[in-house]
Amino acid sequence: MNRLNRIVLGVFVLFGLPWLGLAVYPYLTFAELKPHTDPNTKEVAPPGVPGAARQGYRIYAANGCVYCHSQFIRDKGEGGDIDREWGKRRTVTRDYILDDEVFLGVSRFGPDLTNMGVRQKDAQWYYRYLYDARQFNPETVMPPYRYLFRDQPIAGQPSSNALKLEGNAAVRPGHEIVPTPEAEALVAYLLSLRRDYALPEAPEPRE
Ligand code: HEC
Repeated sequence: MNRLNRIVLGVFVLFGLPWLGLAVYPYLTFAELKPHTDPNTKEVAPPGVPGAARQGYRIYAANGCVYCHSQFIRDKGEGGDIDREWGKRRTVTRDYILDDEVFLGVSRFGPDLTNMGVRQKDAQWYYRYLYDARQFNPETVMPPYRYLFRDQPIAGQPSSNALKLEGNAAVRPGHEIVPTPEAEALVAYLLSLRRDYALPEAPEPRE
């Protein structure tokens, strides 16, 4: 083999093989994936992200939630995710095909949020949690996101979505704390986090 051929072969091994493995193979495997329609109920899964939640992706990314929270469930035998009741089944590629961004996460300082919208459906709870998670657990490392809220004087009737705060976080008399549009979008996104539909490739594990 002459020298040029060796160089060409070397370049292929160095760049071509990783490209085949990391770009072409996943593309060929996943590009054809479509939502699944249940033959009996005609329900489509995953159902897609509702409009209000779409902006929430950006707020979730901008605030670094992804550094402490994952969004994937491991199968029984691969970890304790299902025993911790983070989900009833493992997550698979098809779960994410309609997402604008996929926040699998980098570490798990906090609980996995794949099914947060199943665990908690009360928007007021999320507002209070984001405003000050220490109200729920004084030891928590989850930072307060107070800048996603506004302190304003009550004009006439209190706002319907004003935070119901107690103790140290109590509000000045005559004032109220209300979520900004960013907080509303983030909570719409958190409420939309539910992968509790059935997929053929990810049945619920038997005991
Ligand atoms: C520094 C790490 C950290 C960051 C950043 C963080 N969290 Fe958390 N989060 C936690 C921890 C730890 C908990 C568990 C609560 C506790 O400590 O008792 C938690 C709990 C939660 C819960 C409740 C989970 C449950 O199952 O009850 C939600 C919802 C949540 N976080 C959302 C968010 C969102 C949204 C963001 C970004 C705006 C965020 N977190 C940023 C660490 C973090």
